[in-house]
Amino acid sequence: MFSLGSAPHRTIAELEPKYGSVVWLKLGSVNTMAVLTAKAATELFKNHDLSFADRSIVETMKAHGYHNGSLALTPYGSAWRVLRRICTVEMFANKRINETGEIRGRCVENMLTWIEKDGNGNGNGIPVGRFVFLAAFNMLGNLMLSRDLVGPESETGMEFYGAMRRVMEWSGRPNVSDLFPWIRCIDLQGLKRRANRDMGIAFGIASGFVKERIKQRETGGGNEKDFLDVLLEFEGYNGESGKLSETEIIIFILEIFLAGTETTSTTIEWAMTELLRNPSTMAKAKDEISNIVVNTEKFQENHIDNLPYLQAVMKETLRLHPPIPFLIPRRAVRDTNFMGYFVPKNTQVFVNVWAIGRDQECWYDASCFKPDRFLGTNADYRGQHFELIPFGAGRRMCVGLTLGHRMLHFVLGSLLREFDWELESSVGPEDVDMKERMGITVGKLVPLKAVPRKCVS
Ligand code: HEM
Repeated sequence: MFSLGSAPHRTIAELEPKYGSVVWLKLGSVNTMAVLTAKAATELFKNHDLSFADRSIVETMKAHGYHNGSLALTPYGSAWRVLRRICTVEMFANKRINETGEIRGRCVENMLTWIEKDGNGNGNGIPVGRFVFLAAFNMLGNLMLSRDLVGPESETGMEFYGAMRRVMEWSGRPNVSDLFPWIRCIDLQGLKRRANRDMGIAFGIASGFVKERIKQRETGGGNEKDFLDVLLEFEGYNGESGKLSETEIIIFILEIFLAGTETTSTTIEWAMTELLRNPSTMAKAKDEISNIVVNTEKFQENHIDNLPYLQAVMKETLRLHPPIPFLIPRRAVRDTNFMGYFVPKNTQVFVNVWAIGRDQECWYDASCFKPDRFLGTNADYRGQHFELIPFGAGRRMCVGLTLGHRMLHFVLGSLLREFDWELESSVGPEDVDMKERMGITVGKLVPLKAVPRKCVS
């Protein structure tokens, strides 16, 4: 029997030389189409985006009705449109993101202090990804709830995130009731039971945040308006009454943390890993930053636009290490004729961005880390260049792209501005472990350890 193995994006990518740009798989009884080249992705997003705008949902994500309130999982339609508009208009609009720059600045400052303390000048490597994760988590914690949820020694937010992470892990396991829908009523592997338990824990904690805020608002206390206030105050669009229920608000909160934390922290960990394996690239990125961020100035978000090489490093990282290698799986809304194939309604669709980032028709030396390839080109990941779509494309493209773009460059730029980085003395650039681990995102199996040395301005 065909097995997807522990790295399905690689297994399926290997089918391309023999079977071509589009492959048809039967996973259990689930019809699945995988798109493996930029040419096929272009066809899908340019001419058939609407036909593939639904999501394929696994049983475990139905715990506590999560799939009903989730923007990422809601079928394409009016409910999805409302949630999406709240995000694009009220939360992730450029103006709103500009206004919250100071909060991200504080989270990055904390991260740099923790790193300096942990590095302690003693030559030992520190787990870079962990500190970046804490910073990303607190950035979202502050945007959403106006509070830091985690610190190097604090586990408050980790209980909350840990529960969600476990739900995602149960969802990532091959589940008999997803593969063979007619036995959906039996939870043979106990995955649904476990997902229900862990989702319950996450719901309980998030519900505490919401209740506390409702009380604060009644007594007139509270900070400046954050995303939770936006959700509580939302009345609907076009004069229609559309207040969000407490459950919908809880799901919204969980989703922002799930969608925005590990995607950014794993990407930055991969970027640092690639830079440490490629010292001349690291030097070039640092030089560029020192030319723009001068004297004792701190790296700031408004420096990003003036740093084309840093941006090229990030594009190259996302080309080789897209954190969500199949996008969030799509589903055919209706029967569709796609590139000469008949694709029945409800077919699950994997757009293999990992394979597309290595498509030899688009990329020379496709498996090598060479940010210079992007200099002087206008290729980017905003959904118009289908050879580089780590955030997806079309209607269901990542709604957090603008924020994600800022977080990625701001954190990486600050790490490079403040420290010189080296691998631990026992590890050479060619020995760095590059194995992947499948989780909420595809991260490093062996966390990167690197030695920070504070730069002298
Ligand atoms: C490195 C950073 C990130 C990457 C690579 C990434 C990637 C993606 C991808 C591949 C999708 C599915 C797109 C599709 O099906 O075409 C997606 C959807 C989504 N992302 Fe992101 N994302 C990132 C950061 C964020 C952030 C920071 C947030 C919010 C705080 C966010 C929120 C969402 C949401 C809500 C969706 C669902 C959109 C929908 O279904 O309409 N993402 N993201």
